[in-house]
Amino acid sequence: MNQIYEKLVKCADAVKSKIKFQPKVALILGSGLGDYAETMQVKRRWNTLRLKDFRCLPWPDTRKIFIWLCRRCPGCGNAGRVHFYEGYPMQDVVLPVRLMGMLGAKIVMLTNAAGGVNFDFHPGDLMLITDQITTAVPSPLIGPNIEELGVRFPDMSEVYNKELQDVIRKAGANTGVALKEGVYMQFTGPSYETPAEIRMCRTLGGDAAGMSTACEAMAARHMGMKVCGISCITNLAAGMSTQKLDHKEVQETADRVQRTLSVLSQNRFV
Ligand code: HPA
Repeated sequence: MNQIYEKLVKCADAVKSKIKFQPKVALILGSGLGDYAETMQVKRRWNTLRLKDFRCLPWPDTRKIFIWLCRRCPGCGNAGRVHFYEGYPMQDVVLPVRLMGMLGAKIVMLTNAAGGVNFDFHPGDLMLITDQITTAVPSPLIGPNIEELGVRFPDMSEVYNKELQDVIRKAGANTGVALKEGVYMQFTGPSYETPAEIRMCRTLGGDAAGMSTACEAMAARHMGMKVCGISCITNLAAGMSTQKLDHKEVQETADRVQRTLSVLSQNRFV
């Protein structure tokens, strides 16, 4: 068996032995947005990092993969994600989303903090992701194909599911949360981009720049999951203002935008 798949099966079996239901949706919360998980009203929550077999995961810290049960939609999530810039191979970076797919989640919602590249965006905006550019990072699908998950040459013509996009647009209209829309481009990080890279991003059709998400969306689509995503625009990207980029400020804006995300999520999604 493929080694990555073997690891996934082991993790999935460990979780399945503890829960008696199938998560329907998966949620991956980006930088500064992890606290949102604490505000979710759920009946019960399992922190799967306490599960013995989960210790096979490569990251040693407190990032949680959690499973929740509530009447409307049992789900699973990751509060604080794994990034490529931390040095993990792409296959490990996408392990959580794949695992959530293997637990049964058919829909995944990805959130992130991103720099606004589009001149119409402002810090604090939420951007509904309509498509993505991944060419600046290695594909998580490079290497022997895991046939159990998907085909060798998966179609990526609709990474962000159109119906789910409409659901989010309606949620925005119902809750009075204004949503921008656009294309997310993933860079490797950890440095912020240069002004020239941001101009390149804009020329290529990018509206927001970040260091995550697109690889997860690709792995999820490979498995046939339906994907949707929202970027919190925390700052104008490099070169678009006289201000230098500072992680603390990015984090503070993400904290603030988290509240808008909570308002949006008060709508029925599933
Ligand atoms: N670039 C990349 N990632 C980011 C940014 C940015 O400007 N802001 C928040 N995450």
